[in-house]
Amino acid sequence: MSYETITVEQRDAVTLITLNRPKALNALNSKVLEELIDAFAVYQADDSQLCAVLTGSGDKAFAAGADIKEMSEKDAADFYLEDFFAPWTSEIVKKTRKPWIAAVNGFALGGGCELAMMSDFIIASENAKFGQPEVKLGVAPGMGGSQRLTKAVGKSKAMEMCLTGRMMDAEEAERSNLVARVVPHDTLLDEAMKTAAQIASMPPMAAIANKEMVNAAFETGLDQGLIIERRIFQILAASEDKKEGMAAFVEKREGKWKGR
Ligand code: CAA
Repeated sequence: MSYETITVEQRDAVTLITLNRPKALNALNSKVLEELIDAFAVYQADDSQLCAVLTGSGDKAFAAGADIKEMSEKDAADFYLEDFFAPWTSEIVKKTRKPWIAAVNGFALGGGCELAMMSDFIIASENAKFGQPEVKLGVAPGMGGSQRLTKAVGKSKAMEMCLTGRMMDAEEAERSNLVARVVPHDTLLDEAMKTAAQIASMPPMAAIANKEMVNAAFETGLDQGLIIERRIFQILAASEDKKEGMAAFVEKREGKWKGR
């Protein structure tokens, strides 16, 4: 399928999805959402694809937020009746069980910051800037920012950012655990693709299982999370890739994965 607002490319086992509205700083409108839902569904369904990277086109922005021009046309009834921001979580986050990385190359503001935080982890360029400036527009985060940012950086910083709209630079974002790693701007895509290729070389079922376990830490309490961890570990112990992985270690060779 060809898209208007994103591009999608398969490089070996890694799917690269690029937000492609550089003139609007990759603002997220309904078309972007529709196309991202499709691209993530294709990635999820394709057994040859084992990790994905999402980035922004152009040098300035990952995404400067939900499209303000589109939102300015809508009233409360439109937002409520359309359940406007719901599909970002229900269609992208919940249905993408395979790993994906956000490679943040510039502004990640409002919905852009929220989209990056929906990924499994963020790799940021030195130029990245994160923020939830919705308060300045008379609104508030709508795609999970008040929840995911608070879980990532803690109450004080999240509250300060939401109340003042100030941006956090890449260095502060790394220090605050919002991002996994900061890399020089020119190497961002290479670093993200290299990391994705490394993930894609792992036993695929174990990768999905690791993702599910870590997410359980965010979504449940400790007792329940520990049970989820043990049960998933026990399921993995029955997989062919577990036998192969341990045999390969003992025989000092690379594992050959079946994905089950
Ligand atoms: N929606 C629509 N268009 C946007 C946009 C957005 N979120 N952000 C930038 N653009 C457009 C601008 O309107 C401009 O288009 P025109 O050339 O047609 O005027 C183009 O992108 C370039 O932007 P600027 O000229 O403003 O670029 P700049 O370098 O001077 O400033 C910026 C960059 C600081 C990121 C500034 O563009 C900005 O503040 N953008 C809005 C950020 C924002 O408020 N995001 C939150 C949106 S609300 C939201 O996301 C709700 C939610 O929680 C889901």
